Amino acid sequence: MCVPIKMMTMMLMLLLLPLLGQCELNFNNDLENNQKFKSVPTTIKSYENETVLLPCYLDTPFHYVRWHRDDVQLVDSRHPEIPPPERIVLWSNGSLQVSNLKSEDTGNYYCEIMSNSNHAVQAHAIEVQYEPSVAMEPSGVLELPIGTTFEVVCLANGVPQPAISWRLNGNTLDQYSNTGNRQSHIFEIKSRAMSGLIECLAANGVGQPAVAGVQLRVLFAPELTLPQPVVYTKVGDRAQLECIVEAAPVAKLQWFHYGVPVQTGSHISSHETELSSSSHALDNYVSLVKHVLIIKKVRDADMGQYECRATNSIGFKSTTVELTGRPMPCVFKINPGTQSSTSHVLVWQTESLLPIMEFKLKFRQIPSANITRPIRTNWTELTIPAQMTIGPIYITSYTLHGLQPASLYEVSVLARNSFGWSDNSKTVRFATGGEVELPNYSTESELQYDATEESFENEITQRSQVFTASMVHNAATGSGCSELLYLAIFIQICLAMLYT
Ligand SMILES: *[C@@H]1O[C@H](CO)[C@@H](O)[C@H](O)[C@H]1NC(C)=O
Ligand SMILES: *[C@@H]1O[C@H](CO)[C@@H](O)[C@H](O)[C@H]1NC(C)=O
Ligand SMILES: *[C@@H]1O[C@H](CO)[C@@H](O)[C@H](O)[C@H]1NC(C)=O
Ligand SMILES: *[C@@H]1O[C@H](CO)[C@@H](O)[C@H](O)[C@H]1NC(C)=O
Ligand SMILES: *[C@@H]1O[C@H](CO)[C@@H](O)[C@H](O)[C@H]1NC(C)=O
Repeated sequence: MCVPIKMMTMMLMLLLLPLLGQCELNFNNDLENNQKFKSVPTTIKSYENETVLLPCYLDTPFHYVRWHRDDVQLVDSRHPEIPPPERIVLWSNGSLQVSNLKSEDTGNYYCEIMSNSNHAVQAHAIEVQYEPSVAMEPSGVLELPIGTTFEVVCLANGVPQPAISWRLNGNTLDQYSNTGNRQSHIFEIKSRAMSGLIECLAANGVGQPAVAGVQLRVLFAPELTLPQPVVYTKVGDRAQLECIVEAAPVAKLQWFHYGVPVQTGSHISSHETELSSSSHALDNYVSLVKHVLIIKKVRDADMGQYECRATNSIGFKSTTVELTGRPMPCVFKINPGTQSSTSHVLVWQTESLLPIMEFKLKFRQIPSANITRPIRTNWTELTIPAQMTIGPIYITSYTLHGLQPASLYEVSVLARNSFGWSDNSKTVRFATGGEVELPNYSTESELQYDATEESFENEITQRSQVFTASMVHNAATGSGCSELLYLAIFIQICLAMLYT
């Protein structure tokens, strides 16, 4: 008698189950019954493969218990014959056990209990935490030229949701657009310095942070360095022109002489040497090559402007090297400090493979702090014959007479041999005897200094001035080593004076 009814109820239940799942999930009316629960609502944070127990205890005996996950019914104590979902067990005391946790077990769980026609519902939750994983798009190696803008996307997974951060060569980046577990970063390649490793880190406090990366190689047009922009030589000598090319991808180099491609053969040869690239390991894709052009026996026709032109797929760059027989620019030596208030002894040195015929000395007075008028006097030019020397080094001294006392001057000198005039020396300053207040204007802006030797030359100028001042104030003072140097220069000057 009992059996058919039970079967009918069961069939009815089976039909109604999906409906029950939806209709009975509005538990709001039942929440007032919560005080009857001995168990408290909990959120269980656990890990993959673990087993958890969701409690559902009432202080009174109960009629039946049911569990739902979100809006899906899991178990019903009235129907033990319906197998529960995999890995789920409903214990007789009402607790729900979920074993061997998987990430899909994350959700809200509702325990629905009926006792003495009282209906109560308690909510629990399971959060299956798992360590972050991250993927980057693009990945591998990215080769792009300067000026390119590109997007890198980082996709992270994990529970709780990982926080994503970005690094470029180990430095944290700030700006990025963020949409949940998908973040993207727009990069603009501004310089070669951006080459390196772009990384995305995902961390959620579970396990180790995950890292994904892409190697960025910035491609760029050749960059040229000339160890010697002017190569001094003479007919019959061996001459060597050098051009160092840095490029990515590797560049092709061509030499031109007055616009005509240089023909290599028995007279002119060329070779190249791979230099070890930047010490930065991530820059090892950059090619650094020294190109050398060798002229075995310089002829008159070989002199002049050479162009070193390097080309790669990004662009080209060219620069010129001069092969010349002119004297090298003169360099003023430290002033020996023998000047009076109206004269000044200048000493300079140059090198020339051909005999020097003459020098051209240019000097002019410049305002000191005591002279307020801003105009400069015009350059005075003097032609000074060169003395004979053995070897290519020329050290010359010359005394300027008839100068204004306690005044500032600037001076520059050029040398000429049979090939032509040298470039100007650096312009240097000196003061005549008497107290001089140095002017307050910038030396660098007014004098056209060659940037490479500027500091060196400045130092000489300053030391010269300091020395002049100390001579003026205390003629007896001198410090051991430099005294010897000045003595040596002084002897040379005396010798030079004897010759003239
Ligand atoms: C969970 O178990 C699976 C299968 O045995 C294994 O591959 C996985 O690494 C385990 N996860 C954790 C977090 O131990
Ligand atoms: C409910 O039953 C499970 C399984 O037997 C047990 O582990 C748990 O401790 C029980 N809870 C209470 C409150 O008795
Ligand atoms: C400025 O020059 C005048 C002579 O022209 C001199 O008498 C005076 O002492 C100088 N002043 C300074 C500060 O050098
Ligand atoms: C300086 O040179 C300019 C032209 O170079 C000339 O006009 C001027 O007269 C010269 N001044 C003096 C004082 O010689
Ligand atoms: C001199 O130059 C310095 C900076 O180089 C400046 O601070 C100072 O005011 C200047 N003095 C005069 C009198 O122009």
